[in-house]
Amino acid sequence: MEVSYEARATRIQHETSRRRTFAIISHPDAGKTTLTEKLLLYTGALHLAGAVRARKNQRAVTSDWMAVERERGISITSTVLQFEYGDYLLNLLDTPGHEDFSEDTYRTLMAVDSAIMVLDGAKGIEPQTKKLFDVCRMRTTPILTFINKMDRPALEPLALLDEIESSLKIKAVPMNWPIGDGPSFVGVYDLVNKQVLRFERTAHGQEKSAIIKSELPDPTLENLLGEVAYEQLCEDVELLSIAGASFDLDGYRNGELTPVFFGSALSNFGIEPFLSALVDFAPPPQPRFSDNQQIQPTSPDFSGFIFKMQANMDPKHRDRVAFLRVCSGRFHKGMAVRSVSSPRETTLDRAYRVFGQERETIEEAFPGDVVGIVNPGLFSIGDTLYTSSPVRFDAVPTFQPEHFAILHNRDVAKYKQFYKGLEQLEEEGAIQVFFPVENIRREPILAAVGVLQFDVVCSRLETEYNVQASIESLAFVHARRISADAETISQIQWPSTGTMRVHDRAGQQIALFASNWTLKYTQERNPGVSFREFGLITTTD
Ligand code: G4P
Repeated sequence: MEVSYEARATRIQHETSRRRTFAIISHPDAGKTTLTEKLLLYTGALHLAGAVRARKNQRAVTSDWMAVERERGISITSTVLQFEYGDYLLNLLDTPGHEDFSEDTYRTLMAVDSAIMVLDGAKGIEPQTKKLFDVCRMRTTPILTFINKMDRPALEPLALLDEIESSLKIKAVPMNWPIGDGPSFVGVYDLVNKQVLRFERTAHGQEKSAIIKSELPDPTLENLLGEVAYEQLCEDVELLSIAGASFDLDGYRNGELTPVFFGSALSNFGIEPFLSALVDFAPPPQPRFSDNQQIQPTSPDFSGFIFKMQANMDPKHRDRVAFLRVCSGRFHKGMAVRSVSSPRETTLDRAYRVFGQERETIEEAFPGDVVGIVNPGLFSIGDTLYTSSPVRFDAVPTFQPEHFAILHNRDVAKYKQFYKGLEQLEEEGAIQVFFPVENIRREPILAAVGVLQFDVVCSRLETEYNVQASIESLAFVHARRISADAETISQIQWPSTGTMRVHDRAGQQIALFASNWTLKYTQERNPGVSFREFGLITTTD
């Protein structure tokens, strides 16, 4: 049956406006997995909740190379959970939850429209929270904050808000206030609707908690808390209503403020109000820039970009899956697309919803959705796919590497497999690869955001390409791209030790520095040379 242009446009508009695509950022152990499970419990997607925990517990491991994941008890790969809540459709892009993380984590954050920041109430801002927050800030991604574990002794609520403001430089606006703390935590006071929300504990928090609503003054609550704690709550609430910052939707959406919710994911306290705020406040898929022009998600023309690539996810298939975030129009299985790097039309007839190793064929998708497409080797990270006039979204960034190592090939006879494997892993964005300018052995130098990537590379070279490789760490801490003509580069005055000159596959020269001092020295001695940080580069850069 022929569908009219208007009917198609209305459908795209409707499907776009009901989607919320987000990620959860946190330091390990703050409660990301538990909160994810509870979001699934409250939205009725229980069948997914078990799988989330199983993944964390590493029971659901099927692929060989994921042995690294299993051994370290961590999750390296990302997955996408899709579930409904009322009329809304939520896409939760999972990011690895270990202290050590890779460029994948960063790139996944490029594909969301908002983020949830989970803090442990006893710990406040921890190093990884800050790192991930900074990535969100690059794109002014709106952030909702959930302060978790309030059922345990926690820091003072005001101190937690102060810490968010001072360490992240963002206004923190409390939306509710904890009632009681530690074992006496009974619920939250909703500062917007001026309501007491008391939650009933359920066995192990496996079922939803009933909410008892009331207003202040509340003699039952006073009895429950005791006079001192009750008076304190009344005082806090009064003070916040006079002096507290108020929530403003534009401020949140522009990344200027973060609404803060207190609760306990484990005991289901505060999940429901938080979920409502998520669908009410978090933005639907947003327009994206392509060559300085805004592409509206509701445009009838399909476009999307590839933010992640993963080879050999399933040993039975031994193929490569490209993770595509739909940005505009409607995606449907079998559609013919083009990309800037591959202007020839390609038919996408193998499209999946990706959850870990599980794949489920999908027929269609809309802006905000993530589609796993089996990549016939044509696409790379950062590619924009389109059906109509060419679109090229602002690039997916290459992040500043912080760790460096020489990769030794232990089996010289297998040099072909070694280089082929390395090239594929580089293409996939698992690692950055440089080559020394002066060293005749020219062994590749790996550069990564997190050291774990080095183990992943060795393990994958072994299981997927049958090559034994080993790592020799290098003591460099900074990498800078050198911009100057060849003559000037040859005359650079380097400090006597603590630097190394390398180049990437495209021939771009890069300097590695062993300390802040060597970097500063070199910059000061060579004012005519630019030592650029890594950052946004396009695939054609
Ligand atoms: P993560 O994904 O951020 O790494 O954290 P995860 O949810 O796995 O939570 C880490 C630990 O904190 C878990 O305990 C979890 O049960 C606990 N936790 C999460 N939310 C709350 C909360 O609101 N209150 C309290 N008291 N604890 C919470 P575990 O002992 O490491 O694991 P498990 O044996 O409970 O699975």
